[in-house]
Amino acid sequence: MVHPLQAKMAQKTKQLADAGRLRQRRVVGAGLIDFSHNDYLGLASCEPMKAAATEGAERYGVGAKASPLVSGYSQAHQALEQALCQATGHQACLLFCSGFSANSALIETLFDSDNTVVADKLIHASVIDGIKHSGAKLKRFLHNDIESAQRILTKLEPTVVLTESTFSMDGDKAPLNELSALCKQHGSWLIVDDAHGFGITGIGEQVNSNGLSAVTADIADIQVVTFGKALGCQGAAVLGSQQVIDYLVANARHYIYSTALSPANAHVALAAINYIQATPTLIDKLNNNIALFRSLYQQSDVSSQYLLADSATPIQPIIIGADSEVVALANKLSKLGFVVGAIRSPTVPKGAARLRITLSATHTSEQITNLVDALSLSLS
Ligand SMILES: Cc1ncc(COP(=O)(O)O)c(C=O)c1O
Repeated sequence: MVHPLQAKMAQKTKQLADAGRLRQRRVVGAGLIDFSHNDYLGLASCEPMKAAATEGAERYGVGAKASPLVSGYSQAHQALEQALCQATGHQACLLFCSGFSANSALIETLFDSDNTVVADKLIHASVIDGIKHSGAKLKRFLHNDIESAQRILTKLEPTVVLTESTFSMDGDKAPLNELSALCKQHGSWLIVDDAHGFGITGIGEQVNSNGLSAVTADIADIQVVTFGKALGCQGAAVLGSQQVIDYLVANARHYIYSTALSPANAHVALAAINYIQATPTLIDKLNNNIALFRSLYQQSDVSSQYLLADSATPIQPIIIGADSEVVALANKLSKLGFVVGAIRSPTVPKGAARLRITLSATHTSEQITNLVDALSLSLS
């Protein structure tokens, strides 16, 4: 007899497969050039970070062994929190094991059904899930559209506005200064998910003198940063006032009922921050690679047919359209030696499936040139 859960899973899986939206894992092929990851500065496997991982493991151990509120909170965690506060100007900081957990914990702990939150239309799934769990009312404004945000704020006077500094699937940046001013005018807090911006200030136009983030406490009341992107390791932090952080410590279930971030990983994240601040050439290299890719693609014969999104960041999406087409293209590129992201609905709106190409400081000019040749071949 077929169990009802088996029947449900089979039906849902078939629906997804028929729509070209079935997600499946694959082991990344050896020897392929990877243009799909978020390791923008190449720190995930560089020698100084490997050395920091060994040092962290020897000094603090590889595992936290307990929840932070029991005995899992170590000097490695405290040192990282202090460095993050110093870099962003926030009073206090709280570490989580992932950005998804940090966003969801923050939102579902702070808000309840008495609150109205206003968010950019393209805000990340982890924030949406947090809002759903909190019971707060959600109203979205048009993506990066300050007039749309203003109309909604004037009408609703919401508790908070939520946005990302750099949008993960589009690569464009939020108008943070304008949003921050608008929030101050309406007495709303601004919460910024800085997952894809943190660590790579100097990319595009949002430059900040601290060398790490274009988002600081004078812009965002609360900021979420992640370590799995430009810092090349794992984990995340919520930054805000002492009151906000104390409240999360006392009430955030993701924090209270979960083993703390590995202390060795916290040590690596701190080493990554120090390394980025001491090595400005990393940002220069990344900027050069972004410019090279954009210029080669714009000169290619397929650029008029398949639009390259207007992005100054390492996230360079090429809009394809149909979900099934984007998967076929990614497979073709894989056969030519390249890994690129095939992003489909519901991650992006239906009909806006895209190749998500991400650049890193470690890509060579030759690899970028070869990728554009492979794109031309696959798309024509
Ligand atoms: C905008 C944004 N926020 C949060 C996250 C979650 O971060 P993490 O990968 O550390 O869970 C992601 C992950 O891709 C993201 O793109």
